[in-house]
Amino acid sequence: MDKALLSRTAAAMVAKGKGILAADESSGTCEKRFKSVNVECTEENRRSYRNLLFSTPGIEQYLSGVILFDETARQKAVDGSPIPQYLQKKGIVPGIKVDKGTADIPFTAGEKVTEGLDGLQKRMKEYFEMGCRFAKWRAVITIGEGIPTHTCIYANAHALARYAAICQEASIVPMIEPEVLLDGNHTAERSEEVHEATLRATYAALAAYNVSLEHLILKTSMVVSGKDNPRQASVEEVAERTVRVLKRTVPAAQPGIVFLSGGQSDEAATAHLSAMAAMPGLPWPLTFSYSRALQNPALKTWRGQAGNVAAAQKAFFHRAHMNGLASTGKWRHELEKQAA
Ligand code: 13P
Repeated sequence: MDKALLSRTAAAMVAKGKGILAADESSGTCEKRFKSVNVECTEENRRSYRNLLFSTPGIEQYLSGVILFDETARQKAVDGSPIPQYLQKKGIVPGIKVDKGTADIPFTAGEKVTEGLDGLQKRMKEYFEMGCRFAKWRAVITIGEGIPTHTCIYANAHALARYAAICQEASIVPMIEPEVLLDGNHTAERSEEVHEATLRATYAALAAYNVSLEHLILKTSMVVSGKDNPRQASVEEVAERTVRVLKRTVPAAQPGIVFLSGGQSDEAATAHLSAMAAMPGLPWPLTFSYSRALQNPALKTWRGQAGNVAAAQKAFFHRAHMNGLASTGKWRHELEKQAA
């Protein structure tokens, strides 16, 4: 465990004005996204699309890191070098999704636990040699009638902590992602309660596995209303509830917190981040680690056509720019059109 390297990596991931691109969609998720723009989900199309994002001119101004899927980490970049090396050359830290997706937890109403611990120590060594310096593991918590159960929260916290310890042992910074889904008609208040319970259990498990808080990044959902609830919490309410729950549960020793977008609109994800980052006295830097809220406009512009690459890169650059501003609390609605 190289603590100096872990500290450098974690600091680089949350460098001021930058954030992380999640480009680690599994082939199944990628298929869904590509289908929405009528693109066939072949390995070559996935490579072309990811390379479009990574080779966007100037994108390193706003991207500190990129989360890769295993397949992408083994593919070649536009200059022929392996993609992790290409990103490193641009000053972007390559990361890798290492979980293997979810499975049903027996004796629950279909709640999920994330799998992928078997053989992880060996895989982690290989990813380090390939140049990956941080990893991601996503746990899924669903809100509904009588759920999440304690069993689901506990099982996921335990897996996240075991994963995090394995990462640190291999000198790879663990990004731990307990995602509370926004699906459902719950209130923002209920979401806040579930976030609090989830994060408390997660940090208790991290302590039980001797995970070093100084070498860890939390990737969390925001406290928003369920997407089917007719009363949607305002930007201010989301910011206030999210920061309150984070202050209650996340130790100040941690180098930073990043957010997923989770199905929020592109602009809502940006507005929420900016409102939080503008709050005074935060104990940690806050930034983005979005997939959909960074990629949506680019994917819709690209549509699998080589002739659309430059326009798609422009759309991607714009969202990265807006979110870079948001991470310093300086995004304003009017900037959306001016800078586009
Ligand atoms: P979204 O921003 O689309 O939620 O994706 C982030 C992510 O990495 C989910 O694991």
